[in-house]
Amino acid sequence: MAAIRLGVLGSGTGSNFQAIAAAIAAGTLDAEIALVLSDVATAGILTHARSLGLPAEHVAPGAFRSKFAPAVEEAVARTLMEAGVDYVVLAGFMRMVKAPLLTAFPRRILNIHPSLLPAFPGLEAWRQALEAGAAETGCTVHFVDAGMDTGAVIDQRRVPVRPDDTPETLHARIQAAEHELYPAVLRELARPAGN
Ligand code: GRF
Repeated sequence: MAAIRLGVLGSGTGSNFQAIAAAIAAGTLDAEIALVLSDVATAGILTHARSLGLPAEHVAPGAFRSKFAPAVEEAVARTLMEAGVDYVVLAGFMRMVKAPLLTAFPRRILNIHPSLLPAFPGLEAWRQALEAGAAETGCTVHFVDAGMDTGAVIDQRRVPVRPDDTPETLHARIQAAEHELYPAVLRELARPAGN
């Protein structure tokens, strides 16, 4: 049995999910992906998960744009608990997480953000870094709380900003760093206490 069971939530391509799944397949991360949920029916993350034979479901989000409808959030929390999930991994999930999901998994919901938080929270953080003239940026894995990108930082990777960077080239290098950072953080969480 794997050391930790993960429930993954994503809205997009799912490249971070793929990096985590690849680390598990390579035997460098002692984890199991119990299920993948997405608020976007056509999201690449669901396609990738299904191609790996993992349970992957679309969750109709309800009437709100920035969060799940309360009844939906409650059903998602229940589904994740019933799946025996230890950690909820947000991987490009574009909605705010609220109670009861937050309260069901205290300090057990993780997110990855494309900046060195607390710098540049919110959308398109790589573009924010470029427009601010930052010399470096990076990515952060943090615990999720009720705020936007405000939870306790677990670990970060630095990425230098180059003079000729465009938003696209900078974002690509940050994503490459993300694909190392997320599995590394999960590896630490999967490590037996005292090792
Ligand atoms: C990542 O850049 C992550 O930092 C942000 O959303 C993006 C998700 O990309 N939260 P992917 O779906 O994992 O490819």
